Amino acid sequence: MTPARAEAGKNIKNAAELWYNNTIVNQRGYMKHLLTKVNCKNSDEKQKALVELQNVCSQCRACDLCKTRTSTVFSDGKADAPVMLIGEAPGPEEDIAGKPFVGRAGQLLNTFLSDAGLSRENDIYICNTIKCHTPQNRIPSNAERRACQVYLFGQISIIRPKIILLCGSAALQTFVDDDVKISDIRGKWLNIFDDTEVMAISHPAYLLRQHSTEANTPRWFMKKDLEKVKNMLQSI
Ligand code: URA
Repeated sequence: MTPARAEAGKNIKNAAELWYNNTIVNQRGYMKHLLTKVNCKNSDEKQKALVELQNVCSQCRACDLCKTRTSTVFSDGKADAPVMLIGEAPGPEEDIAGKPFVGRAGQLLNTFLSDAGLSRENDIYICNTIKCHTPQNRIPSNAERRACQVYLFGQISIIRPKIILLCGSAALQTFVDDDVKISDIRGKWLNIFDDTEVMAISHPAYLLRQHSTEANTPRWFMKKDLEKVKNMLQSI
Protein backbone atom coordinates (compact mmCIF):
# COMPACT_ATOMS: atom_id res chain seq x y z
CA MET A 1 0.00 0.00 0.00
CA THR A 2 1.44 3.43 -0.93
CA PRO A 3 1.75 6.09 1.82
CA ALA A 4 -0.91 8.21 0.01
CA ARG A 5 -3.31 5.25 -0.10
CA ALA A 6 -2.66 4.45 3.58
CA GLU A 7 -3.31 8.08 4.55
CA ALA A 8 -6.54 8.18 2.52
CA GLY A 9 -7.66 4.96 4.20
CA LYS A 10 -6.99 6.39 7.67
CA ASN A 11 -8.97 9.56 6.94
CA ILE A 12 -11.83 7.52 5.58
CA LYS A 13 -12.03 5.30 8.63
CA ASN A 14 -11.79 8.22 11.07
CA ALA A 15 -14.50 10.13 9.25
CA ALA A 16 -16.82 7.13 9.05
CA GLU A 17 -16.39 6.35 12.74
CA LEU A 18 -16.93 9.96 13.72
CA TRP A 19 -20.09 10.24 11.65
CA TYR A 20 -21.39 6.90 12.82
CA ASN A 21 -20.87 7.91 16.45
CA ASN A 22 -22.42 11.32 15.89
CA THR A 23 -25.41 9.63 14.34
CA ILE A 24 -25.91 7.50 17.40
CA VAL A 25 -25.24 10.22 19.96
CA ASN A 26 -26.67 13.43 18.51
CA GLN A 27 -30.00 12.63 16.99
CA ARG A 28 -33.42 13.19 18.47
CA GLY A 29 -34.87 10.47 20.70
CA TYR A 30 -36.73 8.44 18.11
CA MET A 31 -33.67 8.33 15.84
CA LYS A 32 -31.49 7.12 18.68
CA HIS A 33 -34.11 4.55 19.52
CA LEU A 34 -34.14 3.30 15.95
CA LEU A 35 -30.40 3.19 15.57
CA THR A 36 -29.63 1.53 18.85
CA LYS A 37 -31.88 -1.42 18.12
CA VAL A 38 -30.77 -2.13 14.59
CA ASN A 39 -29.19 -5.48 15.26
CA CYS A 40 -31.56 -7.08 12.75
CA LYS A 41 -31.34 -10.85 12.64
CA ASN A 42 -33.11 -11.61 9.37
CA SER A 43 -34.54 -9.95 6.30
CA ASP A 44 -38.01 -9.52 7.85
CA GLU A 45 -36.53 -7.57 10.75
CA LYS A 46 -34.45 -5.52 8.37
CA GLN A 47 -37.47 -4.75 6.21
CA LYS A 48 -39.49 -3.68 9.26
CA ALA A 49 -36.72 -1.39 10.53
CA LEU A 50 -36.30 0.14 7.06
CA VAL A 51 -40.01 0.88 6.78
CA GLU A 52 -39.88 2.54 10.22
CA LEU A 53 -36.90 4.67 9.17
CA GLN A 54 -38.47 5.50 5.80
CA ASN A 55 -41.63 6.70 7.56
CA VAL A 56 -39.57 9.05 9.72
CA CYS A 57 -37.65 10.22 6.64
CA SER A 58 -40.83 10.99 4.70
CA GLN A 59 -41.80 13.53 7.39
CA CYS A 60 -38.30 15.04 7.66
CA ARG A 61 -37.99 18.82 8.03
CA ALA A 62 -34.31 18.87 9.00
CA CYS A 63 -33.24 21.14 6.11
CA ASP A 64 -34.85 23.48 3.56
CA LEU A 65 -34.96 20.84 0.82
CA CYS A 66 -38.24 19.69 2.41
CA LYS A 67 -39.83 22.89 1.04
CA THR A 68 -39.05 22.12 -2.61
CA ARG A 69 -39.20 18.31 -2.81
CA THR A 70 -42.10 16.38 -4.33
CA SER A 71 -41.20 13.25 -2.41
CA THR A 72 -38.41 11.86 -0.29
CA VAL A 73 -36.44 9.26 -2.25
CA PHE A 74 -35.46 6.62 0.26
CA SER A 75 -34.34 3.51 -1.62
CA ASP A 76 -34.92 0.80 -4.16
CA GLY A 77 -34.07 -2.87 -3.62
CA LYS A 78 -34.29 -5.65 -1.10
CA ALA A 79 -33.42 -5.31 2.56
CA ASP A 80 -31.16 -8.37 2.36
CA ALA A 81 -29.31 -7.33 -0.82
CA PRO A 82 -25.59 -8.05 -0.41
CA VAL A 83 -24.54 -4.80 -2.15
CA MET A 84 -25.55 -1.25 -1.18
CA LEU A 85 -24.98 1.40 -3.84
CA ILE A 86 -24.99 4.99 -2.58
CA GLY A 87 -25.51 7.75 -5.15
CA GLU A 88 -25.49 11.51 -4.75
CA ALA A 89 -29.02 12.94 -4.64
CA PRO A 90 -32.32 12.29 -6.39
CA GLY A 91 -32.71 14.06 -9.75
CA PRO A 92 -35.99 15.53 -11.05
CA GLU A 93 -37.30 12.16 -12.33
CA GLU A 94 -36.49 10.49 -9.02
CA ASP A 95 -38.18 13.35 -7.12
CA ILE A 96 -41.39 12.60 -9.01
CA ALA A 97 -41.10 8.79 -8.94
CA GLY A 98 -39.94 8.61 -5.30
CA LYS A 99 -37.37 6.01 -6.40
CA PRO A 100 -33.60 6.40 -6.92
CA PHE A 101 -31.85 6.08 -10.28
CA VAL A 102 -34.87 5.90 -12.59
CA GLY A 103 -33.73 8.60 -15.07
CA ARG A 104 -31.09 8.43 -17.82
CA ALA A 105 -28.21 7.97 -15.39
CA GLY A 106 -30.14 5.14 -13.74
CA GLN A 107 -30.74 3.42 -17.07
CA LEU A 108 -27.03 3.58 -17.87
CA LEU A 109 -26.26 2.23 -14.39
CA ASN A 110 -28.65 -0.69 -15.02
CA THR A 111 -26.78 -1.54 -18.24
CA PHE A 112 -23.39 -1.51 -16.49
CA LEU A 113 -24.72 -3.66 -13.64
CA SER A 114 -26.27 -6.28 -15.89
CA ASP A 115 -23.19 -6.37 -18.17
CA ALA A 116 -21.15 -7.24 -15.06
CA GLY A 117 -23.59 -10.02 -14.14
CA LEU A 118 -25.11 -8.07 -11.23
CA SER A 119 -28.88 -8.01 -10.80
CA ARG A 120 -30.25 -4.60 -9.76
CA GLU A 121 -33.34 -6.35 -8.43
CA ASN A 122 -31.70 -9.10 -6.37
CA ASP A 123 -28.14 -7.99 -5.61
CA ILE A 124 -28.36 -4.24 -5.06
CA TYR A 125 -30.02 -1.96 -2.51
CA ILE A 126 -29.82 1.56 -3.95
CA CYS A 127 -30.04 4.80 -2.02
CA ASN A 128 -28.52 8.26 -2.04
CA THR A 129 -26.37 10.40 0.21
CA ILE A 130 -29.34 12.74 0.65
CA LYS A 131 -32.98 11.85 0.21
CA CYS A 132 -34.38 15.03 -1.37
CA HIS A 133 -33.87 16.57 -4.80
CA THR A 134 -31.84 19.79 -4.78
CA PRO A 135 -33.13 22.82 -6.73
CA GLN A 136 -31.48 22.98 -10.19
CA ASN A 137 -29.78 19.69 -9.38
CA ARG A 138 -27.03 21.50 -7.48
CA ILE A 139 -24.48 19.55 -5.43
CA PRO A 140 -25.81 18.98 -1.89
CA SER A 141 -24.24 21.30 0.69
CA ASN A 142 -22.32 19.91 3.66
CA ALA A 143 -25.16 21.04 5.94
CA GLU A 144 -27.72 19.13 3.84
CA ARG A 145 -25.54 16.02 3.87
CA ARG A 146 -25.15 16.28 7.62
CA ALA A 147 -28.88 16.78 8.16
CA CYS A 148 -29.58 13.65 6.12
CA GLN A 149 -26.79 11.37 7.29
CA VAL A 150 -28.90 9.75 9.99
CA TYR A 151 -30.99 8.10 7.28
CA LEU A 152 -27.98 6.89 5.32
CA PHE A 153 -26.21 5.53 8.38
CA GLY A 154 -29.49 4.08 9.56
CA GLN A 155 -29.78 2.22 6.25
CA ILE A 156 -26.21 0.94 6.56
CA SER A 157 -26.75 -0.12 10.18
CA ILE A 158 -29.94 -2.00 9.33
CA ILE A 159 -28.78 -3.69 6.16
CA ARG A 160 -25.14 -4.38 7.06
CA PRO A 161 -24.35 -5.03 3.38
CA LYS A 162 -21.38 -7.16 2.37
CA ILE A 163 -20.29 -4.51 -0.12
CA ILE A 164 -20.88 -0.74 -0.28
CA LEU A 165 -20.38 1.13 -3.57
CA LEU A 166 -19.85 4.87 -3.23
CA CYS A 167 -21.12 6.12 -6.56
CA GLY A 168 -19.56 9.49 -7.43
CA SER A 169 -17.77 12.20 -5.44
CA ALA A 170 -20.67 13.28 -3.22
CA ALA A 171 -21.09 9.74 -1.90
CA LEU A 172 -17.34 9.34 -1.46
CA GLN A 173 -17.05 12.66 0.37
CA THR A 174 -19.67 11.60 2.87
CA PHE A 175 -16.98 9.21 4.11
CA VAL A 176 -13.69 10.96 3.34
CA ASP A 177 -12.03 14.36 3.51
CA ASP A 178 -12.95 16.68 0.63
CA ASP A 179 -9.41 16.52 -0.75
CA VAL A 180 -9.58 12.77 -1.45
CA LYS A 181 -10.31 12.59 -5.18
CA ILE A 182 -12.50 9.88 -6.67
CA SER A 183 -10.10 9.65 -9.63
CA ASP A 184 -7.32 8.62 -7.20
CA ILE A 185 -9.17 5.87 -5.35
CA ARG A 186 -12.02 4.57 -7.55
CA GLY A 187 -11.84 0.84 -8.14
CA LYS A 188 -9.84 0.13 -4.94
CA TRP A 189 -11.20 -1.69 -1.92
CA LEU A 190 -11.26 0.76 0.99
CA ASN A 191 -10.89 -0.05 4.65
CA ILE A 192 -13.88 1.72 6.22
CA PHE A 193 -15.98 -0.84 8.08
CA ASP A 194 -14.62 -4.06 9.55
CA ASP A 195 -17.15 -6.38 8.00
CA THR A 196 -18.02 -4.54 4.77
CA GLU A 197 -15.98 -4.10 1.60
CA VAL A 198 -16.20 -0.54 0.24
CA MET A 199 -15.35 0.73 -3.23
CA ALA A 200 -15.83 4.12 -4.91
CA ILE A 201 -17.04 3.95 -8.51
CA SER A 202 -17.78 6.61 -11.13
CA HIS A 203 -21.23 8.19 -11.22
CA PRO A 204 -23.28 7.18 -14.29
CA ALA A 205 -24.26 10.85 -14.91
CA TYR A 206 -20.55 11.49 -15.53
CA LEU A 207 -20.37 8.45 -17.82
CA LEU A 208 -23.30 9.80 -19.88
CA ARG A 209 -20.85 12.48 -21.06
CA GLN A 210 -18.03 9.98 -21.76
CA HIS A 211 -18.74 7.84 -24.77
CA SER A 212 -15.56 5.88 -25.48
CA THR A 213 -15.31 2.28 -24.33
CA GLU A 214 -11.61 1.97 -25.26
CA ALA A 215 -9.14 0.68 -22.65
CA ASN A 216 -8.40 3.11 -19.77
CA THR A 217 -11.39 5.38 -20.46
CA PRO A 218 -14.03 6.12 -17.74
CA ARG A 219 -16.58 3.64 -19.17
CA TRP A 220 -13.90 0.94 -19.42
CA PHE A 221 -12.90 1.55 -15.78
CA MET A 222 -16.56 1.30 -14.69
CA LYS A 223 -16.85 -2.07 -16.43
CA LYS A 224 -13.65 -3.33 -14.77
CA ASP A 225 -14.68 -1.99 -11.34
CA LEU A 226 -18.05 -3.73 -11.47
CA GLU A 227 -16.37 -6.96 -12.56
CA LYS A 228 -14.25 -6.70 -9.38
CA VAL A 229 -17.48 -6.25 -7.41
CA LYS A 230 -19.01 -9.34 -9.00
CA ASN A 231 -15.86 -11.36 -8.22
CA MET A 232 -15.79 -10.12 -4.63
CA LEU A 233 -19.46 -11.01 -4.22
CA GLN A 234 -18.77 -14.54 -5.39
CA SER A 235 -15.83 -14.93 -3.01
CA ILE A 236 -17.50 -13.73 0.25
N1 URA B 1 -28.27 10.54 -9.48
C1 URA B 1 -28.09 10.12 -8.21
O1 URA B 1 -27.04 10.29 -7.63
N2 URA B 1 -29.08 9.50 -7.63
C2 URA B 1 -30.24 9.27 -8.21
O2 URA B 1 -31.10 8.70 -7.58
C3 URA B 1 -30.39 9.71 -9.54
C4 URA B 1 -29.40 10.33 -10.15
